[in-house]
Amino acid sequence: IDIKTLRGVTGGITTIDPGYKNTGSCESGITFLDGEKGILRYRGYSIEELAEKADFLEVAYLLIFGELPTKSELEKFDRDIKEESHVDEDMKKILDGFPKSAHPMGVLSSLTNALIAFNPGSVDVDSEEEMYNAIVKILAKFPVLAAWTMRKRKSLPLDYGDNSLGYVENLHKMMFARPNKSYEPNKLVYDALDKLLILHADHEQNCSTSTVRIVGSSHAGLFASLSAGISALWGPLHGGANQAVIEMLEAIKADGGDTAKYIAKAKDKSDPFRLMGFGHRVYKNFDPRAKIIKKSAEEVLGDLGIEDPVLDIAKGLAKVALEDEYFVQRKLYPNVDFYSGIIYRALGIPTEMFTVMFALGRLPGWIAQWKEMRLRKEPIGRPRQIYIGENSRSFVELENR
Ligand code: ACO
Repeated sequence: IDIKTLRGVTGGITTIDPGYKNTGSCESGITFLDGEKGILRYRGYSIEELAEKADFLEVAYLLIFGELPTKSELEKFDRDIKEESHVDEDMKKILDGFPKSAHPMGVLSSLTNALIAFNPGSVDVDSEEEMYNAIVKILAKFPVLAAWTMRKRKSLPLDYGDNSLGYVENLHKMMFARPNKSYEPNKLVYDALDKLLILHADHEQNCSTSTVRIVGSSHAGLFASLSAGISALWGPLHGGANQAVIEMLEAIKADGGDTAKYIAKAKDKSDPFRLMGFGHRVYKNFDPRAKIIKKSAEEVLGDLGIEDPVLDIAKGLAKVALEDEYFVQRKLYPNVDFYSGIIYRALGIPTEMFTVMFALGRLPGWIAQWKEMRLRKEPIGRPRQIYIGENSRSFVELENR
């Protein structure tokens, strides 16, 4: 290879790194993770401690602004979000245009983008004050849109939230309140949801976050960047794995519960089947989030008195895989999505909404990463390539081809 053809624009050498396995795209002060040791920290605080002691809104504030909020900062943040919770009524017409069968992630991504038309001031944001306004707007409206996508599928009226409730309580009520039925608050359910959202809140430069940063680097605006991030998260190799895991566990159950058969399929290189919820680009020891979620899944099912055979299949599958040489050699462990779906199911959340729940959790992380990228005035993201196509050719007229 002629080294000159690889010369990068900044004078360095263009490297080829498919999937960016070894390429850092930015410097970031938000999330630290050590895949070998299984450590995850937001702004220096361990994920274990945050999941135990903080609530989701506090964690959102921490990620976005860098410090845990004081009581008055948190109250103001909460108040500012509540004041922005109205979604333009015309947005309902856009939602109405989707078939009921549309996947909620496609709908959510479209609605997030459509929000720009109703909030044009949120696009061209440069100052920290403009950024703050755009941030509280999306934190306020996103749960409404998420709840609407679920209610539309169930032909339920599209309601707004109850601003007397906390962020997570309000989200739950918007999703589950039924006309002419009393809505029963449930602390156990709120706590489980809160924990799940915290565990998903950021994960440094993963596929969707890198998408948010790269789209934002063209100054396309926060909502457009988030909409692209939602699409990236949708894929089964990323956030969509939580839906794929439950579908896989259901299929194994329907097939007689023979986990060994599916382990063999996952190992067979001529079979495209992968064990969903297994493996991670960065964690090569264990996923600390999976550890917390596994415990939480057992607690939630126990407390709600639910016996889910799918949890037993999941545990059986994990046990066999963790002892199998194929998985040991490749350092494939259960990831966050392996157990999260089991909790979502226990909370009555439909399978096709699982990745939406992930997006709700990841929202503050995406926002924090976008804000950091803009404040650091990062250049437009524009990777290079090594050209491997045809060399110079003469055009051949249509009649001569
Ligand atoms: N089942 C079977 N084999 C697997 C699996 C799996 N789930 N994951 C990886 N492997 C194998 C690959 O076939 C490959 O084997 P080889 O070396 O013999 O060719 C080796 O392990 C390395 O896999 P890669 O695909 O190169 O690893 P990569 O880092 O690119 O992919 C990923 C990571 C996408 C998470 C992958 O492990 C996977 O597809 N897992 C299943 C989907 C999933 O659970 N995604 C959620 C990730 S967590 C999240 O996004 C929140």
